[in-house]
Amino acid sequence: MNDQIRNFVIIAHIDHGKSTLADRFLEATSTVAPYKMKEQYLDALELERERGITIKMAPVRMAYRHNEVDYILNLIDTPGHSDFSYEVSRALGAVEGAILLVDAVQGIQAQTLANLEAAKNAGLKIIGALNKIDLNPPDLGELAEELARLINVSPQEIHRVSARTGEGVTDLLEAIVELVPSPKPIFPKAALIFSSLYDEHKGVIAFVRVFGGEFKAGDEARLQAVKYDFKIKEAGYFSPELNPTDSLKPGEIGYIATGIKEADAIKIGDTIGDEVLPGFRVPQPVVFVSLYPGLESDYEDLKNGLNKLKLNDAALSFSPDSSQVLGRGFRSGFLGRLHFEITVERLKREFGLELINSFPSVVYEVKTREDEKIIEDPKDFPDDYLEAREPVTKIRILTPSRFLGPILELKNIFRLSEIETTAWDGRFRVTAILPLADLILDFDDKLKSVSQGFASFSYELIGYRRVLVRRLDILVAEEKVPGLSRVIPEENLESEARKMVSKLKTLLTRKQFAQAIQAAAGTRIIARETIPALRKHVTGNLYGGDRTRKMKLWQKQQKGKKRLKERGRVEVPLEVFRELLKK
Ligand code: GTP
Repeated sequence: MNDQIRNFVIIAHIDHGKSTLADRFLEATSTVAPYKMKEQYLDALELERERGITIKMAPVRMAYRHNEVDYILNLIDTPGHSDFSYEVSRALGAVEGAILLVDAVQGIQAQTLANLEAAKNAGLKIIGALNKIDLNPPDLGELAEELARLINVSPQEIHRVSARTGEGVTDLLEAIVELVPSPKPIFPKAALIFSSLYDEHKGVIAFVRVFGGEFKAGDEARLQAVKYDFKIKEAGYFSPELNPTDSLKPGEIGYIATGIKEADAIKIGDTIGDEVLPGFRVPQPVVFVSLYPGLESDYEDLKNGLNKLKLNDAALSFSPDSSQVLGRGFRSGFLGRLHFEITVERLKREFGLELINSFPSVVYEVKTREDEKIIEDPKDFPDDYLEAREPVTKIRILTPSRFLGPILELKNIFRLSEIETTAWDGRFRVTAILPLADLILDFDDKLKSVSQGFASFSYELIGYRRVLVRRLDILVAEEKVPGLSRVIPEENLESEARKMVSKLKTLLTRKQFAQAIQAAAGTRIIARETIPALRKHVTGNLYGGDRTRKMKLWQKQQKGKKRLKERGRVEVPLEVFRELLKK
């Protein structure tokens, strides 16, 4: 039975066509009936379809007949962004083969290389494929040679497909059957969890690859890393909808409904069975943001929204947080900036929330005279410390030669160090160390703009390094605005302080009393601006007798006043936070 199973992933740089190719596989294997087919079938979230990015992987089991033999092909789709590299690594650990898909118009990009490296490290059989050949890309032969060199095969072994028209897709399926090894069973009972989903009736549903043993409904089972015992409620396959079966056997990919209602109990990378499989770790959030509801009354909705999202996103973490000015909210931890942006976007869309958020910040390891601790919130960063360490990443950029100069100049804006450039197949590979704090600013946008979109990059967290930083507070009318505190490298302190106060001055509406805006590091005021007092007539510039419009403005002002009262004397309106947060 095992000989007829093939487990594989598609790996690619963002937008190279993974999800579209998966659609063609679903059609070619008649897994999804034509009348049910829609674009990017495995991307279940509305946001995924709209932005064309894969956030949550959806596995699928397909039946395929080749040379009179029936095969089972299990495909796991993986998210392409570096933020989710741990999830990708777990998916790679669940399969034997990978299709490395390259957009033939874009060519090989940074994530292509990063994914290839990860797949090689996982010991997978790699099948190279050039996609989008319907666009008649020039230099297809050259690109095939380049990809062949990377994978270490002959150029003839590189597939040429169009995920749009379906050309070459059947050949690719056949290559999977012929080249990807069938799974080798191991003896101890073990199923690797590579993703999970929450269901109100079935509890947490673990997506698993069975390595050894059988898993059946009704059996007792144990989550190894967290030592949690439960009774299997249901076992099944992905068709791609959940499809119950009698038992899951070695080599198979499917799901185990645990009945567990605490989403926290299930960790990606954990094992169900008798032995922990290697590679398990709990992904640590490294980017922290405080989220506040735009209206105090939405607090419960925000809590509810975060709880719901967490059920299907094990990496999301949050804890209650409150600020005098912004009210009650949550300090939330994310795997990276994209993870943060996606979460906020989903809270807005799926739960109709208006949110204010603090600046995204990274975690710091800080040693003081008293102790050593992890600081997740800039407002807790001590004025005095012995040593501070920040998370740093290793980035890899791939760029056409003509943009190398402008890219290297990015070191004037970002703290890039240990920069190394290597000529590579008519292009340049640049590797460098970049603190995560700089990466989450707007490194990707800047890189895109200086390279006109031609350069791509991937990153990986490599650890913590010593840094000289200070906490910069913003005071309005002598009151600290907690959401605006930031930890900033010593060398940028003054310029950042000046930038913040002058930006705030232009954004904050004038009040009945003069207001001082100050930026301070400890007790030292670094920059200061004053907003002169002004009496504001909201309807003053409306001429004529449009009474309803005036009424509206008055009502709006009343509402504003109410918010003002709720938040104390200092009013830093929602819009101001939003403007300040803009990259
Ligand atoms: P992520 O999920 O963000 O990693 O992207 P992806 O790799 O899944 O790419 P996706 O399938 O969303 O495709 C990206 C874009 O390329 C979409 O607009 C597709 O319609 C288009 N596309 C994919 N394959 C082909 C192809 O063979 N030919 C053409 N012309 N367009 C394609």
